[in-house]
Amino acid sequence: MKGASSQCLAVIFQTILSPILLIAFIFSAALFYSADFCYISRFYDNRPATADEKIGEKHKVGFAMGEGNYKDCDVFSGRWVRDYSRPLYEEWQCPYIGDQLTCLNHGRPEMDYRYWRWQPRACYLPSFNATLMLEALRGKRLMFVGDSLNRGQFTSLVCLVQRVLPQHAKSIQTFGSLTVFTAKDYNARIEYYWSPFLLESNSDDPNKHRIKDRIIRNGTVDKHGQHWKKADILIFNSYIWWVEGVRIVQDWSEEVKNIKNISTEDGYRIAMKMLVKWINKNRDPKKTTTFYSGMSATHQASERWGGSPKGNCFNETKMLEDQTFFAARTSLLHIINEELGKSAVPVTLLNITQLTSPRKDAHTSIYKKFFEGPLTQDQKANGTRYADCIHWCLPGVQDVWNELLYAKLLFFP
Ligand SMILES: *[C@@H]1O[C@H](CO)[C@@H](O)[C@H](O)[C@H]1NC(C)=O
Ligand SMILES: *[C@@H]1O[C@H](CO)[C@@H](O)[C@H](O)[C@H]1NC(C)=O
Ligand SMILES: *[C@@H]1O[C@H](CO)[C@@H](O)[C@H](O)[C@H]1NC(C)=O
Ligand SMILES: *[C@@H]1O[C@H](CO)[C@@H](O)[C@H](O)[C@H]1NC(C)=O
Ligand SMILES: *[C@@H]1O[C@H](CO)[C@@H](O)[C@H](O)[C@H]1NC(C)=O
Ligand SMILES: *[C@@H]1O[C@H](CO)[C@@H](O)[C@H](O)[C@H]1NC(C)=O
Repeated sequence: MKGASSQCLAVIFQTILSPILLIAFIFSAALFYSADFCYISRFYDNRPATADEKIGEKHKVGFAMGEGNYKDCDVFSGRWVRDYSRPLYEEWQCPYIGDQLTCLNHGRPEMDYRYWRWQPRACYLPSFNATLMLEALRGKRLMFVGDSLNRGQFTSLVCLVQRVLPQHAKSIQTFGSLTVFTAKDYNARIEYYWSPFLLESNSDDPNKHRIKDRIIRNGTVDKHGQHWKKADILIFNSYIWWVEGVRIVQDWSEEVKNIKNISTEDGYRIAMKMLVKWINKNRDPKKTTTFYSGMSATHQASERWGGSPKGNCFNETKMLEDQTFFAARTSLLHIINEELGKSAVPVTLLNITQLTSPRKDAHTSIYKKFFEGPLTQDQKANGTRYADCIHWCLPGVQDVWNELLYAKLLFFP
């Protein structure tokens, strides 16, 4: 990123190079490697990281490169860097990926989108160690709550850890809105609870929720919340369902006669307030950890990034170079920040919007199972109409969300 490179050049300027050399430096190819130079110099500067006490001294920690210094590092601010050692697992190695996200199995022809890692501006991410993650989850329940994007992150996390478990020591089961992956020997559970608005809604059925007229209930989240109470680690999200608009009702018995229109922003604020209320009533910050996963970028109109007026993520194979592009509804980010900021029990934001915004190349697009059946060749040729520019292929972008979750959970709480 430009910012990081120029900051680094300034450091080089002050500490190493004379002005003349600096000019030579700028006009040399070294410019392109300045970020890597910073990478290496920081590597030698870093103080050793301290692992979270929860995990204990006995588990030494493997880092991507050297040891990270996470103090004051905003891991969500950074850039994508080429990495041909990726992906972290193969699609065929993970039996838990649903038909909606298996892009290679649905004929995606190019794989460029898989070879990127996330490089925070000011530190390195620890490399994901599945055994260490399971150790951290020993005897615990980690639960994702929210919409299908959170289900994607759940699936990614299961894929990341399941590799180190023998067949007999892992299982997955669904009970209504709740899906539970169990790592038997660790007595650990990774779970997902379908609740696209967090508030009660007419879209709460885990299977039948293809509803255009979406109605939320102006009330607490307690009805769903009873299923979350016992989770040690909770990761909430709720975004995409709001964008197309909602209506609101005070009580389901009044549904027919008393539905009111409400702006997405006003509805979303109610959901955030009710979530914070529930968190403060039900979460003990000494024993539990609570995250909120921010808005996942969508790429449904290429006009927004200077593309053709009718296009979307279909046939996009390169990410955007402008890494400051923001592909989500800013007003909702403000509401998330404001309302979660008021919570007495701390809620950590997984601030994934910036890092997903350039990734128009990584959506499932037409390479997924369609409800209506497989696309014909003609339909594929006109894929813009059918492309899913919301969800992400697995393996892919969402594995990085879990690397960030892992980093936050184990290394710099
Ligand atoms: C992963 O963590 C486990 C448990 O702490 C440790 O034994 C192992 O050496 C680690 N693996 C790597 C590659 O760092
Ligand atoms: C939601 O309910 C609260 C409390 O009952 C009420 O004050 C508020 O006006 C309601 N909001 C909407 C949009 O109906
Ligand atoms: C509510 O919104 C719908 C659809 O946007 C519109 O047709 C209807 O007139 C609105 N109702 C009120 C009371 O504003
Ligand atoms: C999240 O990231 C956005 C842009 O990437 C930034 O504007 C915002 O301040 C961040 N929010 C928090 C709470 O860090
Ligand atoms: C996809 O993009 C490539 C290169 O931009 C272009 O040549 C091709 O015609 C596009 N295909 C479709 C089906 O739009
Ligand atoms: C593709 O879909 C658009 C929008 O529905 C339609 O206007 C166009 O004729 C279709 N093109 C082809 C080649 O089928």
